[in-house]
Amino acid sequence: MPTHDVILVGGGGAGLRAGIAVAEEHPELSVAVVSKIYPMRSHTVSAEGGAAAVVQPNDTLEDHAYDTISGGDWLADQDAVWAFVNEAPKEMIQLEHYGCPWSREPSGRVATRPFGGMKIERTWFAADKTGFHMLHALFQHSLRYADVVRYDEFFVTDLIVHDGRCWGVIAIEIPTGELHVITGKSVILCTGGAGRIFPFTTNAAVKTGDGMALAYRAGVPLKDMEFVQYHPTGLPGTGILITEASRGEGGIMVNKHGRRYLQDYDLGNAIPVDDERHPQKRTMELGPRDRLSQAFVHELEKGNTTDSEYGPIVHLDVRHLGEAKIDKKIPFVRELCRNYVGIDPVHELIPVRPVVHYLMGGVDTDIDAKTELEGLFAAGECACVSINGANRLGSNSLTELLVFGARAGRNAAKLAKKTKTIPHDELKEQIDATKGRVTSLRQSNGTERIADIRVALQKTMEESAGIYRDEASLQTTVGVIAELKERFEKVKVADKTKIFNTELTAALELGYLLDSAEALAHSALARKESRGSHQRTDHPQRDDDKYLKHSLAYKVEGGAPRIEYKDVVITDWPAGARTYGVQSGLKRDKPAEATAAATPAPSASSDKTES
Ligand code: FUM
Repeated sequence: MPTHDVILVGGGGAGLRAGIAVAEEHPELSVAVVSKIYPMRSHTVSAEGGAAAVVQPNDTLEDHAYDTISGGDWLADQDAVWAFVNEAPKEMIQLEHYGCPWSREPSGRVATRPFGGMKIERTWFAADKTGFHMLHALFQHSLRYADVVRYDEFFVTDLIVHDGRCWGVIAIEIPTGELHVITGKSVILCTGGAGRIFPFTTNAAVKTGDGMALAYRAGVPLKDMEFVQYHPTGLPGTGILITEASRGEGGIMVNKHGRRYLQDYDLGNAIPVDDERHPQKRTMELGPRDRLSQAFVHELEKGNTTDSEYGPIVHLDVRHLGEAKIDKKIPFVRELCRNYVGIDPVHELIPVRPVVHYLMGGVDTDIDAKTELEGLFAAGECACVSINGANRLGSNSLTELLVFGARAGRNAAKLAKKTKTIPHDELKEQIDATKGRVTSLRQSNGTERIADIRVALQKTMEESAGIYRDEASLQTTVGVIAELKERFEKVKVADKTKIFNTELTAALELGYLLDSAEALAHSALARKESRGSHQRTDHPQRDDDKYLKHSLAYKVEGGAPRIEYKDVVITDWPAGARTYGVQSGLKRDKPAEATAAATPAPSASSDKTES
């Protein structure tokens, strides 16, 4: 039975950053990285457009905080947002020291590009393969530490909870099918989101809500699960992301009449075109994602979309950027378009439609990444701190996983240092129960097919919990989910073998999807207002009196979850209108020291980026 001080579940960006934080600050501690896939296959690798942090001389921490809070429709905790914007520049520079090749200006200064909802260009990037380079840098750096021990292709089935505290995990070693108990004094969940609840998503097949469901089953609430981000530009059919960077670099959205239709919508984008701090001017394509995705639905209703074999689409036009700029700034967009839709965006329009991209909600944590369960922490997309509120701004999440991954690592280490190891015989009962459950799942001769339940779940979620929702459809969906959970009790695993039994892990993942979806649908049903990405056609207004609060979904055995609420932390800005680009009204900060060091020269046009 291996024992470590800190156990990380998930080997993506947040997990690796957490592991490095433990190893750097407490080299005497041992860390386990338990991941169902090899770390470099984690979904962080597919992030494209960039990571936000204040670096430009005309930017301020206060502006980053304000954009994030208003972009999140005032549901973000402002103390967490301040911690985030303060620590972001330092994390980004440190990542460069780990080897991340940020694109740079000819002057040598870090290059940034505009992203949606941000009034200044503050998105750092490595061409349009930012996630790949970030994950690579983190992974390579983690290899320096002998006490960061990897358990690759270990699928976590359970948290070990004893006497109101988390003591480790139980995991299947996928290549052998053996069950292992890995104990630890702190556990950090870093398993990413649960986009696979929906049929059309940018999310990798591995994003099945594992960490969310593990925490939920252990009695930890899932926070703000009703907030689901649609990214406005996914490739029809595959759902592959066409990065917002393509709009940041100047791409425009057109409907079937060739009209730049976003001009017909209120995107809350209030940057005056002559704002001297924004030399490139803010375009309507850089409105926030929730508003752009909602505009697509209205275009559909007006008959302005084009029918395709994969449903209605609009087009993204980057032709005017020219081949040289496309190849330099967004080469991956060209590669994806050629490979997956057979078009060349240098000469042709890119077909796109909104696609599920990110869950703002997740495991409820405080600003130190701690959950309600002693010994359990969470970071990255699987957690909800919350800095993203009701709508995350593009490029905040890569930075979030650095800042809060590091915080989680430091705080988990602190707890581990003052905790004694639990005698293993005290855990025997739970371990035996888990082993029995997994074995009987593998041996089950049920009648229900995994794919049938998964497809039915995705269908009902798309129909009721998409860009627009209402009471009737959500009521139907919570009923369907309850039925699907009953059917799941009779799920069949036809493969009885142990080695690489991916049918068994698919069944376990389906269980995670069902639990995450249950929390999501019930939270959406309970929130009778419209805010950010949660748009209720039967309650179209934001209602701050009743719902300027985080939802908390608690699992109830055999029944619907219990939904409670907790206050949003407001430190500086009371809830107001969502108008991007207005000044924050505060006068309290200066660029962080780290930021100043990274800005030796005045801003040059980002078109001149070196690499
Ligand atoms: O469009 C993008 O590159 C996505 C970025 C993000 O979700 O942060």
